[in-house]
Amino acid sequence: MGGFSMGSAFNSRSGLLIMVALMLMAGSFYFGTLLGNNASIYVSQLTSNSSSSSSISVPGSSTFTNKVALTYRETPLTIPESGVNVCPLKFNEYIPCHDIAYVHTLLRSLNVSRREELERHCPPPDKRLFCLVPPPEDYRLPIKWPISRDYVWRSNVNHTHLAEVKGGQNWVHEKDQLWWFPGGGTHFKHGAPEYIQRLGNLTTNETGDLRSAGVFQVLDVGCGVASFSAYLLPLDIHTMSFAPKDGHENQIQFALERGIGAMISAIATKQLPYPPNSFEMVHCSRCRVDWHENDGILLKEVNRILRYNGYFIYSAPPAYRKDKDFPVIWDKLVSLTSAMCWKLIARKVQTAVWIKQEDDACLQQNAEAKLIDIWKLLSDNLVTAFIILHAGISVEVFTEDSQFWQDQVRNYWKLMNVKGTEIRNVMDMNAYLGGFSAALSKRPVWVMNVVPMTMNNTLSAIYDRGLLGVFHDWCEPFSTYPRTYDLLHANHLLSHYKNHGESCKVEDIMLEMDRMLRPQGFVIIRDDESITSRIRDLAPKFLWEVESHSLQNKAKKDETVLICRKKFWSIV
Ligand SMILES: *[C@@H]1O[C@H](CO)[C@@H](O)[C@H](O)[C@H]1NC(C)=O
Ligand SMILES: *[C@@H]1O[C@H](CO)[C@@H](O)[C@H](O)[C@H]1NC(C)=O
Ligand SMILES: *[C@@H]1O[C@H](CO)[C@@H](O)[C@H](O)[C@H]1NC(C)=O
Ligand SMILES: *[C@@H]1O[C@H](CO)[C@@H](O)[C@H](O)[C@H]1NC(C)=O
Ligand SMILES: *[C@@H]1O[C@H](CO)[C@@H](O)[C@H](O)[C@H]1NC(C)=O
Ligand SMILES: *[C@@H]1O[C@H](CO)[C@@H](O)[C@H](O)[C@H]1NC(C)=O
Repeated sequence: MGGFSMGSAFNSRSGLLIMVALMLMAGSFYFGTLLGNNASIYVSQLTSNSSSSSSISVPGSSTFTNKVALTYRETPLTIPESGVNVCPLKFNEYIPCHDIAYVHTLLRSLNVSRREELERHCPPPDKRLFCLVPPPEDYRLPIKWPISRDYVWRSNVNHTHLAEVKGGQNWVHEKDQLWWFPGGGTHFKHGAPEYIQRLGNLTTNETGDLRSAGVFQVLDVGCGVASFSAYLLPLDIHTMSFAPKDGHENQIQFALERGIGAMISAIATKQLPYPPNSFEMVHCSRCRVDWHENDGILLKEVNRILRYNGYFIYSAPPAYRKDKDFPVIWDKLVSLTSAMCWKLIARKVQTAVWIKQEDDACLQQNAEAKLIDIWKLLSDNLVTAFIILHAGISVEVFTEDSQFWQDQVRNYWKLMNVKGTEIRNVMDMNAYLGGFSAALSKRPVWVMNVVPMTMNNTLSAIYDRGLLGVFHDWCEPFSTYPRTYDLLHANHLLSHYKNHGESCKVEDIMLEMDRMLRPQGFVIIRDDESITSRIRDLAPKFLWEVESHSLQNKAKKDETVLICRKKFWSIV
């Protein structure tokens, strides 16, 4: 194995800048309007090509010697003096809890007919890699939003499968060094905007759009490359998109590379990691979910997360085809949805639309007729993946929190000293009430709000203010591809996990942060002094730059804030 070299984020000496003539490739009018005048994209390239050296050269002062070596998590955890090892190149897409090799060892205990193999399965610590996930060969800093909606670097997601099988449906096409996303999907070959307009017509009896139908937050099940979400943005509708890691290779990686919010997930045997009554619309366009199976248990899960007067949009063959067993499936769907007192309000042009009515009398009646078990409907009978605690939050606390984060965000952006377009994919790892995310609402970013499962359930409050998020336990890796976030925010996260056991030590969470971060991405950590001083020591071993600052906390006391930045390195 060779060593590797790096281009430092704060030291651009090593970065050879090349100009990519995108405008020539795709027509100057379109890009002209997106970029304004003098449009061009600059990409910093790695230059070092010393392939035989076993040490690492760092532009600037310090020298690291991190080794390339396949390393597993050992107990007790020790970090080599030379720094955290780097995983071999072939692990450049390593997702610990969606690792096909590991899931394969479990197959005998998984119910494949319920697609359990698509859910999260995290290996025990000793079977997890403990090394930094390297970028693929020829990785380039991602193209910036909004151009990334339509174009991403081909070499960053080096998989042709999706273009081969879904090119005809206009999901994605290959275009020289780029992937091009024309905005299509299986069910909207002619583009998402027309499809979205059609859904608006269906939900408003031809009088308005989805927004006027009261849709603000959407869950897109089986989202593909997330074009649906991208084209709902102009209506100011926010979408949580998910899809499993399955035969449609890397769909979520494409979505995130484009700068569209998405995560890996599957609806199979476990509750989805979202709170009840959170979405005005759940969307399934050929989402490959057998809603009619198992007494409609998965529809009941949709019922749980759907708000009253919310829509279930179903664009799939049972909604319109009369051959094979599609009519039988349709009849089952109708009886299941009627039992839950949903109302079918439209069925045309290959799409069926139900509305979840608030109709207690209907529910009562169906319960008496034994069509439905209300208790089960309300509680839900999927495997409960999280416990909802209730957090009583007063208006004062809420207002103070919002104001506080407005100020912090201003400070953060000053400290990071980046241009407005540099940051797109953001995660608040300990979101509390979503104040940080709300303070970013005027910037061209989207935010994944994460509420740790061992915290109070404030995620419902986050959804209630129109933001999106997910429950997660940071003792386990997150369901995302490597290199998918530009900025991670960890406010008193690491101290919360101080006594949560062996697999969520500071180093474990830092390793996961590093995996999720794009090269040159930032982590903002504010925490107790004991934690921040540990991180200051550890950061260079993870190949992070670290700057220490001080800001006032809510109690107006000075608190250490670390601005860490992942360097742009690669194995050579
Ligand atoms: C890369 O390698 C070539 C030939 O091996 C050498 O001429 C060139 O100077 C190297 N470039 C850098 C930046 O080290
Ligand atoms: C797997 O799930 C199916 C329902 O889809 C059920 O009938 C079957 O009993 C399950 N198998 C096992 C081994 O649990
Ligand atoms: C892309 O993948 C192909 C085959 O999977 C491989 O031959 C090629 O080297 C890869 N290219 C890059 C830039 O990683
Ligand atoms: C939606 O309805 C409007 C008004 O009736 C119509 O002009 C438009 O073509 C419809 N759009 C679609 C996609 O059906
Ligand atoms: C939809 O509009 C048509 C024509 O304007 C009207 O006759 C019909 O009653 C409306 N349907 C609903 C459900 O409002
Ligand atoms: C949850 O909320 C309660 C009451 O507001 C509070 O006392 C408790 O500390 C909170 N728990 C956590 C883990 O934040």
